[in-house]
Parts: sequence; C-alpha cells; structure tokens
Amino acid sequence: MKKTWWKEAVVYQVYWRSFYDTDGDGYGDLEGVIRKLDYIKELGADVVWLNPCYGSPDVDNGYDISDYRSIMPKAGTMDDFERLLQEVHARGMKLIMDLVVNHTSDQHPWFVESRSSKDNPYRDYYIWRKEANNWRSYFTPSTWEYDETTGEYYFHSFATEQPDLNWENPKVREEIFDMMRFWLDKGIDGFRMDVINLLAKQAGFPDAEHPDVISYLGNNPGIHDYLQEMHEKVLKHYDVFTVGEIPFVTPEDGLLYVGEDRGELNTLFHFEVCDYMAHWDMARFKEIQKRWYEGMWGRGWNSQFLNNHDHTRLVTRFGNDTTFRTESATCFATLLHTLPGMPYVYQGEEIGMTGVRFDTIDDYNDIAMKNKYKEETGKGRDPQEVFESLLHLARDNSRTPMHWDDSSMAGFTGGTPWIKVNPNYKEINVAAALADPNSVFYYYKKLIQLRKEHEVMVYGSYEPVLEDHPQLYAYFRTLGTEKWLIVLNISEQSVSFELPESAASVSRETVITNYPDDHAGGSGALTMRPFEAVIYRF
Ligand code: GLC
Repeated sequence: MKKTWWKEAVVYQVYWRSFYDTDGDGYGDLEGVIRKLDYIKELGADVVWLNPCYGSPDVDNGYDISDYRSIMPKAGTMDDFERLLQEVHARGMKLIMDLVVNHTSDQHPWFVESRSSKDNPYRDYYIWRKEANNWRSYFTPSTWEYDETTGEYYFHSFATEQPDLNWENPKVREEIFDMMRFWLDKGIDGFRMDVINLLAKQAGFPDAEHPDVISYLGNNPGIHDYLQEMHEKVLKHYDVFTVGEIPFVTPEDGLLYVGEDRGELNTLFHFEVCDYMAHWDMARFKEIQKRWYEGMWGRGWNSQFLNNHDHTRLVTRFGNDTTFRTESATCFATLLHTLPGMPYVYQGEEIGMTGVRFDTIDDYNDIAMKNKYKEETGKGRDPQEVFESLLHLARDNSRTPMHWDDSSMAGFTGGTPWIKVNPNYKEINVAAALADPNSVFYYYKKLIQLRKEHEVMVYGSYEPVLEDHPQLYAYFRTLGTEKWLIVLNISEQSVSFELPESAASVSRETVITNYPDDHAGGSGALTMRPFEAVIYRF
C-alpha cells in the first residue's frame, strides 16, 4: 500500500462561525481560530478543515458564495486568513478549505448577469430551461425556480438562493480552476469538496419515477471527465490533499472518484451512515464497514466520521448523551480512530458536546430545517408535530457555539451569539475537560497519539469477528507482526462473551481502554460494561 502523509492524518473540522468570537459580533472568526490553534495542536490533529469563509450573503452558512476570492467580513479579512494559514503551518499542521463549486449564491455577479437577459454572456454559466421537471432539491420541493425577468426556470440542487453552475460550459470550468489556483498559490494544503459528485447533470432532465429519492442529482455521466480535468489542470501540480463530499455512492462508484489510478480525488465522505442511519443500527453499520473495506482497501482511501456541521452530534444521535455521555463519546472515538480510513473530529466532539433541543422553531437558524418546516406546515400538518419530527436530525444540533468554559456564553463570545448556546455548557466545556485527566478530550488525544506511533491503525488490514453479535463490535487490525483487537460494547447493557479462539490463547496487553479501571484482561472470558471500549495488542 502506498504511504502518504494524508492517510496518516487526523482532521479537525473548524466550523469557524461557532468556534471562537474575538470581536464580539456573535460570530466566530478567523482570528478566533488563530487564538485556538494551540488547543487543536494540543489535541494532536494534523489538518484543519475550515468551513466556507468566502464572500456570501450567508443564507446557507457560507455555502452560498458570492465572491470566491474574498473573506466574509463576519469571518475577518484576507490578512486574517493569511495569518491563519501561516500560524497553522508554523505549528506543523495543514489547512484545507471548503470548495463549493456545484453552485454559487444568487448574488454572485455571474448569476446577476446570467438572469438579466437570455443573451447575456453569462447566461450559460447556469442552467436555464423553459420548463421544470418533477425533481426535488435538497432544500425545496422543486429544483427549478421560475425567474420573471426572462420567463425561464433556473436549476438549483439546494436552496433557491443557490443556483447550480453549468459545468458543461468550459468557461465555467476555467473560472473555477483559476479560482482554485488562487487559493492553492497562497499555500493551502487542499480542499474538502462540497457535493462534488453533483457537478454533472442528467442529460435532458427526464422526470423521475420517484421524485423523493433525489439520487438523480448525483453521479451523472460526465462527472469523471470534469474531475479528471480538474486534477490534470490544477490538483496534480500541487502537493495537496482532497476529500470529496460524495452522497449516493456504493464502494464501486466511490472507487471511480478516489481510486489511486484514477487521477481524481484522494478520499471521500460517503453517507451510508450519516444520511441513512438515523439511529444506531449495529448490523447495518458492520455491513457498511465490511462492504466499503472490501470494495476499497488497497485501491482507494476512505474517511471515518459520525458527525459534522450537517449531522447531529454523535453522542446524541448514536450514543447516550446523559447517563453514558463520556463512555459513549470515547467508545465511538475508539471506533472512528481504529476503523480503516482517515478520522475526522468535528469541533466539540473531542469534549463530548451534545445536540440541542431548543423550544421553538424560531431558535433554529438552518435553512434546510426552516424550509422543511414551512413546507410541511404548509400542507396543513400540526406545527408542533412537524417541529418535533425535525429535532433529531436538525443540522443546528451540531452548529451551536463551542464551549470553552463555564462563563457566560460558554466563553464563545462577549456579544450575542448568532445561535443560542447549548445550556449544558456549564458542565461540558474545554476548561473542565482540560482539568480532568479522565476527560473525553484526553482520550481523543491518546488515540491520536497512538496513530502516530502505530502504523497498524492506518495501514493494518481489517478483519471483523463476532459479526452477528448485536451489542459488540470487534475487529482485528493487522500489519506485519503487529496484531490488534478492538472490542466495543456499543450498548447500554453489560455483556459477557468469549474472545475468539485465535485471540484467547495468545498473551495480550491493553493498548487503551475507556474505563478507568481495566478489568478486561485475564482469560478469554470478558465482560464489557456499557459503551466500554478496549484495544488489545498481541
Ligand atoms: C454540503 C454542505 C452543507 C450545505 C450543502 C450545500 O452538503 O456540507 O452544509 O448546505 O452542501 O452547499
């Protein structure tokens, strides 16, 4: 297997608007990220992924870009950005930025021109049709918005304020490639590519038989030509790392994007867990991991994440955020850092932050949730029922401000935060975590350190055992003579079991465990407590 720096890296995702506010406007900022870099370094992360901070009217928290080459004033200035990059590098870390090129903002000058008349030179930068088809967008009932000025519809995969670019137009591609060089020439270390498999559209936009299944938006013919062209003209000229956000893919499709022989991307996020597994489902999770491992290992590189700015915090969604918060946070951490693929830590995950439950829809900000609420109540459904139904997976679950300490506003801002702080900050915060040697933070730190010391965590093969067990997830990772067994009790009940024979007869030592007293050693018979995690080395 080819070794590369990024395969060995751990990424820390900074949702800057909720990270640390230094100017009191209620939004985190790049200066705030700079001031907290030592904290990220202390955790041990190698790469910082910065969510979009470009010029934007901000209807979708920066994913609606109106100026690709400037910094949003809420985040700071280009000077702040350059200092941030320098400070990241000074600490031996890398910085990757979000690349959002499936769509722009409707305020982008290209779109302002495009919509102004049918013969405007920018008309063909976007997708215009005389008629709409029956497709749904991610955020609205139709992918098409009628525009009165020219009496045609434009296409949008997300909000109406996010018109999709027309990648068939070579001028669009050149503009985007040029913009990518602009950032790469500043010295950034790569991109997280937003919904990158949506760039190519289905020819002719045929009606869908099941319009609610929106997978017609992605993986369409032409996509690999665009990505290969991007690689050829831009990416291959830099030593950078790319991760594509790639919904609706199987491992077979996935390999087409990240296969090491393909000349496209380095790694991907697939969404078989985060988009389709609302609650923990052991059998399904194991099946997904096995299929992706078998489909990709040795040929392409995967990612491991259980939450991010779009997906509810993992302790709330998959673990237990009250009785077993620390145990479930560290159990899932063990999982993420020992499965094959690059682990991602979403800010606050490392202290076991939880999802929120605000009282009314007015306390929420996310356009996806608000649009859905409007759409469903518009059909006459009971507003409270709609509200309740949206809470579990609401994107704002993960977007509340970072908890730095137990002072007012969790030490995030001296002003009024753009979204309310999760009320449990007095108990769950960075200051408390740093003061407690048994905190979730130090457990993450240890796991990340282990990865730097033991290549088996990166390059070791993966062999699941106890495959039908409903509570336990266990697997070997093996590299040369180094053999590890990871055993996780992903449940709220204690469970006894026998180690597989191949492991029971060999002497073993504990590499790490998430309960303070390690009672798991001894014979082949083990009892694992709720959310107990242990790694053995043979
Ligand atoms: C991605 C982003 C999400 C955004 C969407 C549209 O899924 O992660 O936050 O709303 O793309 O850009």
